[in-house]
Amino acid sequence: MKLDTRKIRSFKKKSSKKELQMLTCYDFQTAQLLNETALDLILVGDSVGNVVLGYEHTIQVDIDTMILFSKAVKKGAPEKFVIGDLPFGTFATMDLAISNSVKLFQQSGVEALKLEGAYPFILEIIKRLTQIGIPVMGHIGLTPQSVHEQGGYYTHGKDTASATRLTKEALALEEAGCFAIVLEFVEENLAKKITDKLKIPTIGIGSGKNTDGQVLVINDLLHLGKKDPPKFCKPIGNLYAQKLKLINDYLK
Ligand code: KIV
Repeated sequence: MKLDTRKIRSFKKKSSKKELQMLTCYDFQTAQLLNETALDLILVGDSVGNVVLGYEHTIQVDIDTMILFSKAVKKGAPEKFVIGDLPFGTFATMDLAISNSVKLFQQSGVEALKLEGAYPFILEIIKRLTQIGIPVMGHIGLTPQSVHEQGGYYTHGKDTASATRLTKEALALEEAGCFAIVLEFVEENLAKKITDKLKIPTIGIGSGKNTDGQVLVINDLLHLGKKDPPKFCKPIGNLYAQKLKLINDYLK
């Protein structure tokens, strides 16, 4: 069943007993495969920069890259609710945010966009985008596009000041019109508290089990890469090793 923003907005794990499951996806054939599964949401994350293009940071990903990959995924998964990520710098001002969002949304055919952060100007952008008909998923905690400003990759919300700030940000994102919020590397107990306070669902990554949903990078879940996936992700196979063996056997 294809979800829509109304169903997602009112989804809470407490009342439905299951959790919202979101996976990233970057290509047509994997999207076709996910289209045949019970997966709830597909995210064409700017993590495409790391796992597909080999960049060290997502900062190098631009809007044309996101359009290309989002188009391919939407084509392969017409029955899924697909979310496209707005990459670094593309929403630095209201004008940029509107033109880049319209371009990505219109050209790729995805159902919604995700953007990182909750500074006051970002809240204004979210309000405007939802008013023109573009649903927005928020994203706070570790926001990889700000890795240099945040000073690395680590768990957020461990001290009172940062916990208070994150809680305020989550409530402000809900107020601005987000239909769901990704909590990335948010301290587990805080992720639960935020989840309990919000009417819209939280989708966690590296934030414990008590969010309304979970998101994983599909390459980590399937162990598609050479490197081991991050600790919080238990891969369900090791496709890197399997494919390596298959190709070496073929070459014998
Ligand atoms: O780009 C991405 O894959 C993401 C998820 C990790 C939430 O933003």
